[in-house]
This record gives sequence, structure tokens and C-alpha cells, in this order.
Amino acid sequence: MNNTTSTIHTYIASHAELVEAALRQSLPTAWEVPASLRESMDYSLMAGGKRLRPIMVLAAAESLGGSLESAMPVAMAIELVHTYSLVHDDLPAMDNDDYRRGKLTNHKVYGEAMAILAGDALLTHAFFCVAQSHKRFGVPAERVLAITEELAVLAGARGMVGGQAADMLGEQGLTKLEELTYIHTHKTSDLIVFSLRAGGHIAGASEAQLEALSEFGHALGLAFQIQDDILDIIGDEAKLGKPVKSDEKQQKVTFPYFIGMEASEQKVQELTNQAKEALIRSNIPNPERLLQIADYLMKRDH
Ligand code: IPE
Ligand code: IPE
Ligand code: MG
Ligand code: MG
Ligand code: MG
Repeated sequence: MNNTTSTIHTYIASHAELVEAALRQSLPTAWEVPASLRESMDYSLMAGGKRLRPIMVLAAAESLGGSLESAMPVAMAIELVHTYSLVHDDLPAMDNDDYRRGKLTNHKVYGEAMAILAGDALLTHAFFCVAQSHKRFGVPAERVLAITEELAVLAGARGMVGGQAADMLGEQGLTKLEELTYIHTHKTSDLIVFSLRAGGHIAGASEAQLEALSEFGHALGLAFQIQDDILDIIGDEAKLGKPVKSDEKQQKVTFPYFIGMEASEQKVQELTNQAKEALIRSNIPNPERLLQIADYLMKRDH
């Protein structure tokens, strides 16, 4: 099976494997790092997530004729940031969850202090990885500069962290669907938008192509988080690798809470179609894999 005819399942599995292999070596073994910090970082990083965001970096680069190899350091970077966000999201002060990726959460194994520090180190190391795409794979410096800035913006106060903060503040008193949309857009869509645009940057995408990738990512990310909220209610804990009913326990306002289960499921479909249309309209030469990823995500059960 070659790259264009393999099923999307095979594509995702083979790309996830490449990402895993790269992540296994992300923190140089020669670096002197306290053993329990290194262990705690590796514990969450290698716990076996779906690797969707790095796969999106790779797929976006491929959709524009970019190479997998040169996209890999940035693919690693976004998985490092995503993993840190999960380690912190699970902390007692945040969602207070005991399981993640089928294993005990980081703080349950290493304690809160080490979990906080592992998160800090994963985040910081992401920027090291981004720099390697220039130093080791020759991605032009101006493209890496754009990626660096976008990672800081989309993962930071105006991006994922801002969304997480709004999520914490909104727990009890959220009354508007627009407020919830703000939370979902930032806590989840922003890292997905980053992944797609970064893949685009690596392959030298034009402004219009980057804009199409942003539109795709924004709608897809929103669909992804609504699906996450749905699975928190009706999902299978064993498949998800994390507890269900976490949102109810934390009194989170979610899409199903606001508009009901059926309307939420419809919304996931609508947003997925909207996402796909943005790509179909664009002049991205090979959008097939990204379109298939969108369909795959809509049907996911974990
Ligand atoms: C979980 O993300 C957090 C959300 C933004 C909903 P994923 O569902 O991608 O988690 P992993 O990486 O597969 O563990
Ligand atoms: C988490 O949203 C989003 C981020 C970690 C940025 P959730 O709190 O719903 O994610 P899960 O359900 O714990 O994975
Ligand atoms: Mg949360
Ligand atoms: Mg959570
Ligand atoms: Mg959730």
C-alpha cells in the first residue's frame, strides 16, 4: 500500500509510530537532568496519546509537498506542549483527574511538585525542538521564526492557556454559548490551528493557504472539543484512557449541557463539514489526507 492508497487508519498509525520514535529521543540523553524529572516527563510523553496534533503538522506539510523529516521537530514540539497541558489540566487544582492515557496521572505517580515541573519542562523543551527544524533540517529561519511566534501566541495567554483560564473561571457561572465557544476555541482549537499552520509554514505555504489551514483547524478544533465533551458523558473509560463524567464532577458547562446531546452531535457534523469546505475551496494541492482526518475524527470513540 503506498501513501496515497492506504486507508486513513494506516496513515494515522504509521505517522503516529514515526512521531513516537522521534519523541522517544526528544530530550538528549547527554543532558544532565534530575532522574525523577526526566522520568516524569517521559512517563506522560510516552503514555501513548493519539498523536493527532503532530500528525496534523505532518499531514499539512505533506498536503503542500513538504517533507516529513523536516516537519518532525515541530510535530514533536506540539505534542510536548499538548502533553504539558494535559499534565497540568489533570492536577488537583484544575480537573483533579486520576487517569490519563490509560495510566495514573502524572501527579499521582510523581507528586504535584514534579508534575508541575515536568509540565514546565515539556513546554520549554518544545521551543528547543522548534529551533532544531532549522539547525538540523534546514527549514528557512524566517519560517521557523513565524512558527516560534505562533506557538507562543496560540499556546499562551491569548491561546490555550487563556482558554484553560476561562474554563476555570467559567466552571460555575457560565451562561452564554458564546462564552463556551470562546473557551473551546482557545483551549483546544488554538493548538490544532497551530499544528496545521506550522505544517504549512514548513512547506512554504502562501498567506491564502495558511488562512485556509486556520479556518480548517478552527472549525475542526471546535468539533474535536465538543466530541470530547460528548465522550465525557457517553464514552467508554477503557477506550478513552481517562475517566468519564469528569465534567459533571467539576461542574463544567459543556456543549451537551447547554444544547443537549443530539444538537451537540449535529454541531460536530456541521463544524466538520465547514472545516472540510474551507480546505476544498482552497488552493492546497493535496488536501485529501487532511479531509480524511476530519472525517476520522468525527467518528472517533476515544
Ligand atoms: C485531550 O486531547 C484534550 C483535549 C483537548 C480534548 P486528545 O484527545 O488529543 O488526547 P490524547 O493526546 O490522545 O491523549
Ligand atoms: C482540556 O479540556 C484542554 C486542554 C488540556 C488544553 P478537557 O479538560 O476537557 O480535556 P480532558 O477531557 O481532560 O482530556
Ligand atoms: Mg480541563
Ligand atoms: Mg480535563
Ligand atoms: Mg474533556
